[in-house]
Amino acid sequence: MTTGRPPYRLAFCPRLEAEKMLTEPAELRARFSPAELAELEALPERRKLDRVAGRLAAKRALAAHFLGEYGWEAEASELAVFNDDAGRPRLALPKGAPAPAPSFSISHCAQGGAAAVGAPGRRVGVDIETIVPRPAEVIAFVSSASELPAGPSDPEAQARLWTGKEAALKMLGLGLDADARAVRPEADGVTLTGVPAKAWAALGSPRVRLDYDGMDGARIAVAYTGD
Ligand SMILES: CC(C)(COP(=O)(O)OP(=O)(O)OC[C@H]1O[C@@H](n2cnc3c(N)ncnc32)[C@H](O)[C@@H]1OP(=O)(O)O)[C@@H](O)C(=O)NCCC(=O)NCCS
Repeated sequence: MTTGRPPYRLAFCPRLEAEKMLTEPAELRARFSPAELAELEALPERRKLDRVAGRLAAKRALAAHFLGEYGWEAEASELAVFNDDAGRPRLALPKGAPAPAPSFSISHCAQGGAAAVGAPGRRVGVDIETIVPRPAEVIAFVSSASELPAGPSDPEAQARLWTGKEAALKMLGLGLDADARAVRPEADGVTLTGVPAKAWAALGSPRVRLDYDGMDGARIAVAYTGD
């Protein structure tokens, strides 16, 4: 059980806010670096909204982290977010920044973007998913033997299972090559097998915990290391 403030900061950007931002170039320029704007411009139209929602949520959570942990009032445009070759989000801080880059994670769905930033020394992963009924075969595909035969049929329980797995995979830096069945969310943490267990061992086998939150019909899970 965690007491007091969780060891991460969680922020959101509702879809409407991202839609509005996309129509206001001056607002975009105030929050995104020139390199980020160039990347945004090059994206297909259908991906721009997700990109803006996720990045604005990340900049919000990162700014709160730097202010709270280091007293640094960073501008959103100084917190430039890119992706590495595996798609993981990476932070490019300005030269001479008074703080190191923390672990952080981004997710987006129809309701908007969510981002989590770990307190110093913590790793985080976040996932946000719309709460909708999912076909039994989709749930079965990501469910482990103990979660089968078909996994939960209630949309809320499905979203909880799905986001819990995805948040843990992101915390471990694993993407499409990872097997969601190898991540089993439990009441007091996560049980890992296969590739996720190897990635976890490489981190020194820290305790992994999961918190759940929500936003307007979406379920959010945050996976983080430590107690
Ligand atoms: C790649 C993957 C992490 C993307 O997740 P998604 O649900 O499609 O999309 P989300 O909006 O939640 O997350 C996308 C963000 O994840 C982040 N991301 C991508 N690859 C990542 C990785 N290897 N590690 C951590 N974060 C990653 C990026 O920041 C990306 O947003 P951006 O491109 O705007 O920066 C994930 O879908 C995946 O491959 N999972 C495989 C496991 C699986 O089968 N899951 C099924 C559900 S349990």
